[in-house]
Amino acid sequence: MGDGVAPTSSGPSYLPGTDMPRFLRDMMQFVGLADDDLAAIRRSAPLVLRHERSLTSALYDHFLKFSRSAQFFLGEDGAVDDARLERRKHSLGRWLRESAEAALTQEFSYYLLSVALAHGHRGQPPGAIPPHLMIGAMSLTQTALASVFAGELGAADAAAASTAWNKLLLVQLSVFMLAYLPPRPVA
Ligand code: HEM
Repeated sequence: MGDGVAPTSSGPSYLPGTDMPRFLRDMMQFVGLADDDLAAIRRSAPLVLRHERSLTSALYDHFLKFSRSAQFFLGEDGAVDDARLERRKHSLGRWLRESAEAALTQEFSYYLLSVALAHGHRGQPPGAIPPHLMIGAMSLTQTALASVFAGELGAADAAAASTAWNKLLLVQLSVFMLAYLPPRPVA
């Protein structure tokens, strides 16, 4: 390695879907999501939850602005299916609440995999949510959270919360991307 830093070994390769806690742990380690970040996320939880409704609405209002994302929320008559949209906001709210708890348990790791599959292996028309929209949605979430933190916390706390959430969201994104790739061993 030239610089004298020994790479961290993570053991024999495995299929992520067969050991999600390990995949999550390995990704957290890779992005440097440490205990102080988890503490910053938990500290931000009351604030995030107070804004849950506006955060989920902001995301879905945004989806509805573009036909490429709005198509997943339309009824057979081509109009926005409000009941379906409300269910989706509810699911997103649950995800936000669970993420804010930052309890990265075995159950949470498989919950994330099920969310990944709900998007990437979606069978009903118009089919799977394209991966680039999942990536875009994470960017929107990062932006919305950063704006809440900047508006309501001091500069240092806002930076710590944004940094920590950015790491957590992209660890989750790496799980969401699993649904789009053929299963293959990782190390
Ligand atoms: C930050 C990224 C996203 C998160 C965290 C998220 C979260 C969720 C959750 C928790 C569910 C419920 C899954 C279940 O029932 O097991 C769900 C379902 C769904 N989401 Fe998302 N979502 C994201 C991005 C998107 C995007 C970009 C779209 C489309 C433009 C979308 C459309 C849908 C649809 C259509 C369903 C229902 C799937 C089905 O037909 O069963 N989501 N989402």
